[in-house]
Amino acid sequence: VTTLRDVTVPAGFPDRIEVPGLGPVSVLGAGCWTIGGAATNRGVPIGWGDVDPDAAYQGLERAHTRGVTLYDTADVYGLGASERLLGRLLHQVDRSRLVVSSKVGYFAGTAAHPYQPDQMRRQLETTLANLRTSYLDAYHLHSGDFGDGDRHLCEAVAQMRRFKEEGVVRAIGMRAPHEFATEWATGTGTRAATSARFLHLFDLVQPDVITVRHSLLAPVYRPDETDIFAFAQQRGTGVIIKQALGQGLLTGSHPPGKQRTFPEGDHRSQDPYFRADTVEAVWNAVQVVRAMFGPDPQHLIRVALAYALQTSGLRAPVLVGFRDPAQIEQNIAAFDAPLTAGQISHLQEVMRPVRESLKAATQQARAVPHEQTAKEYT
Ligand SMILES: NC(=O)c1ccc[n+]([C@@H]2O[C@H](COP(=O)([O-])OP(=O)(O)OC[C@H]3O[C@@H](n4cnc5c(N)ncnc54)[C@H](OP(=O)(O)O)[C@@H]3O)[C@@H](O)[C@H]2O)c1
Repeated sequence: VTTLRDVTVPAGFPDRIEVPGLGPVSVLGAGCWTIGGAATNRGVPIGWGDVDPDAAYQGLERAHTRGVTLYDTADVYGLGASERLLGRLLHQVDRSRLVVSSKVGYFAGTAAHPYQPDQMRRQLETTLANLRTSYLDAYHLHSGDFGDGDRHLCEAVAQMRRFKEEGVVRAIGMRAPHEFATEWATGTGTRAATSARFLHLFDLVQPDVITVRHSLLAPVYRPDETDIFAFAQQRGTGVIIKQALGQGLLTGSHPPGKQRTFPEGDHRSQDPYFRADTVEAVWNAVQVVRAMFGPDPQHLIRVALAYALQTSGLRAPVLVGFRDPAQIEQNIAAFDAPLTAGQISHLQEVMRPVRESLKAATQQARAVPHEQTAKEYT
């Protein structure tokens, strides 16, 4: 049974959202994964293909001009390329007015593990140099792999705390699972294990902020389940939403008849969400959304972003990836008319079969180790 809960229908959208741990930020954040371009890490495609760095930089400038104050990158996004593009912007503008995050945990260099404290220190120094800044507003533990038996977990957390004490990192971040309810943690099966693992890590790390994948493709929770937004509110932790556009699938730019192909180093080449059958399932649902709200990408983007923001209770800003200034413009313009509670409920029903297709595709991919590794980065 899926029941509508906690949907806020505001008169209009706020310009700013107060995020515990980060302070006030623009409702739309610039997600800088895409602009790093194609890349591989340990043989796994982890980037986005066919990105023009000049157009990407213009996108960053446009975001800044249009009042975006939240910028998220990672050491592995284009293996430094994303950070360096963002660093170009930070060098030109008043950095102190922006909230900038990066991440560590997937890139080992020549160290035995990415979370060895010395390796984390080297990565942070490189990140700060790339970004041309002396501090990060948030530094995220990007990967949930802390080595065999979590052997690097305690030292990684201690290193993060040290960065914070030194003032070089202002908030510690980590990712939330894609499916989570507090109540599930005591059950059995995969979702119980995932929820319990998250709670264990959360209690150890005590993050100031967490990131969560949240979109029309995400699970819908029952009123008696404590989802990640309610959990974070109980703990006083900030939340940042990512992938509200379903990495582009919800924008109508992936027609199944003319399926897009992805070059080497583009993570979508190995992502089960971009398999022909799942692309088609999303497309079919997107056609229903078109019939309800309008035919253009602008209409679809408005629905996708409003859905993510409103079902978070308007408590979390939305990081949106982009490749050029046109996408930035379109995405900012999409924060227009909020959805009604009835529309949100209807959308959840429309998306139900898609959620099931995606779940099945993800479970099948888990059996293939390299696919699981590519998906891990999302
Ligand atoms: N903490 C973490 O672990 C973590 C994990 C994942 C992501 N993130 C952050 O969250 C951000 C957002 O997630 P995401 O970038 O993966 O997914 P997303 O925001 O759902 O989708 C971004 C993609 O959608 C397409 N798009 C964007 N605007 C569009 C428009 N106006 N019209 C048509 N297509 C459009 C672009 O791809 P095409 O042009 O190629 O179609 C773009 O790269 C990331 O950039 C990253 O900063 C953090």
